[in-house]
Amino acid sequence: MQEIRHFLDLHHFEPALLQQMLDQSIKLKQGQTSPAEHNALAGQSLAMIFERPSTRTRVSFEVGMKQLGGDVVILSPSDMQLGRGETIADTAKVLSRYVDGIVIRAKTERTVLELARHATVPVINGLTDKSHPCQVMADIMTFEEHRGPIKGKVATWVGDGNNVAASWIHAAVLFGFELRLSCPEPLLPDAALLDWARQEKGNIKIITDPRDAVKGSHCIVTDTWVSMHNAEGEDRHSLLQTYQVNEALMALAEQEAVFMHCLPAHRGEEVSDAVIDGPQSLVFDEAENRLHAQKGILSWALGKR
Ligand code: CP
Ligand code: NVA
Repeated sequence: MQEIRHFLDLHHFEPALLQQMLDQSIKLKQGQTSPAEHNALAGQSLAMIFERPSTRTRVSFEVGMKQLGGDVVILSPSDMQLGRGETIADTAKVLSRYVDGIVIRAKTERTVLELARHATVPVINGLTDKSHPCQVMADIMTFEEHRGPIKGKVATWVGDGNNVAASWIHAAVLFGFELRLSCPEPLLPDAALLDWARQEKGNIKIITDPRDAVKGSHCIVTDTWVSMHNAEGEDRHSLLQTYQVNEALMALAEQEAVFMHCLPAHRGEEVSDAVIDGPQSLVFDEAENRLHAQKGILSWALGKR
């Protein structure tokens, strides 16, 4: 039996395979694909389960799947028997009889792993509390479109060491760039993830003061201070208030530095209006590239071999 092509996390892949997916994304974006590649998923269906809200992930996967000739079924647990206690395992087995792939945005990583364990079709991680691999594929594509190969460059993550930061850590190791983490100590990414990056000889540096961290950086990245999985009432704002990406901070980075954010943004918190709307900001290109990057991922996962 052929191996099922799940897309669960970046560090499950060899860099060359991620690069191959991105190359296909660029070809699709630039209209350089053959008719067969352009229509690679004709007749196929993708189920999408959203346990959390989404704008970009939902729309970009739906449009991307349709552009590749396929169709989608969008599901919310509250409308499914999953919401009344049907198991993830049974849901995975049943959906696998109808559709050719499943995208899931889950409250916990456990759910995605359980779904993938029991599905007989590819499962794609559309964000969990622990990671957001599709986002960071789009981010790497976007950086490289604007600034060339990310290998050897310096990126700085400023703020909460969250799920998106985790996928940036995976990317830094795989794509060979330096990643500086400028986070308040209690909000640093998981120690186990940092240990993995060290073992893999990743160039990951923890530089707590953002003014020191951004010096010499080619890319400044941040994200919301309160992610969907964070508990209500946690006092994160007081820990993070000196971590806003604003013009004063951007001025300390390389002159050609770009600003990135997966969106949705909380203007006036993690980023100022002047930066997110300014000339260094790539945020809407990143959002667009979710579509193209995921078409590359879908073509690999669901396409003919
Ligand atoms: N960046 C991102 O995943 O956005 P959505 O939550 O809107 O899908
Ligand atoms: N870190 C954010 C990303 C949203 C796309 C969250 O998990 O809410």
